[in-house]
Amino acid sequence: MSARIFTFRIFRYRPGNSESGRFEEAKLSVKPSTTVLDVLEELRGKDPTLLYRHSCHHGSCGTCACRINGSERLACLTRVHDLGTTVVTVEPLRKLGKLGDLLVDWTDFFLEYPAEWQTLRHSEAHPEARPPQELSGYSRLENCIECGACVSACPVEDFFGPAVLAALNRERYNRERSDQEPGDTPERERSLLEMAAHERGVENCRRALECSRVCPTAVYPARHIEELRKKLKG
Ligand code: SF4
Ligand code: FES
Repeated sequence: MSARIFTFRIFRYRPGNSESGRFEEAKLSVKPSTTVLDVLEELRGKDPTLLYRHSCHHGSCGTCACRINGSERLACLTRVHDLGTTVVTVEPLRKLGKLGDLLVDWTDFFLEYPAEWQTLRHSEAHPEARPPQELSGYSRLENCIECGACVSACPVEDFFGPAVLAALNRERYNRERSDQEPGDTPERERSLLEMAAHERGVENCRRALECSRVCPTAVYPARHIEELRKKLKG
């Protein structure tokens, strides 16, 4: 496959500017391996005022999530040719405050997480798992890369959101199986379930399953929400 011409419609916005909040169009020749993030980089080369986030370029940091042709995706993992259309629309995630262009304000997203949850935590590898000889031990990063795609795709408004509930269930699940902190398990389990039962918690989920559809790292938040629902029903 060779390079083809695509039209990109990029959302441009500046707070307080009544002329912003519009789509700016650009036509570019795109190679089969080019991602939407590559396109944003190219466009920013021509217009340094274009705002968006990125870091790792390989689906690990979660910062480049945006809406591409109406669906939440990581721009760095989305090849333009794979989209099956010659017009590509790029917008910021929904539900988060708009700071400018594709840049969103993450404050509300992270405030939904309980303050005591650590950003860094012990490995969740099974305590009895034995690593292969060449490894000194297992280390494992969280599947959730906190990209916000599930929150943006979820149709429910007044809600903790799929990412927080998935994290809550994961913590509950880990404590159930872990012997690291045996003393506090029942009390902690109770407080996690209380949070899940909050009026902005599990019962607000309408089972749209959008969260699991868009999650780029197979967290399957909807499955975690269902597990919490069952646990709450006893
Ligand atoms: S659960 Fe998936 S979609 Fe939601 S924030 Fe985590 S990685 Fe992103
Ligand atoms: S740039 Fe890190 S996930 Fe896309």
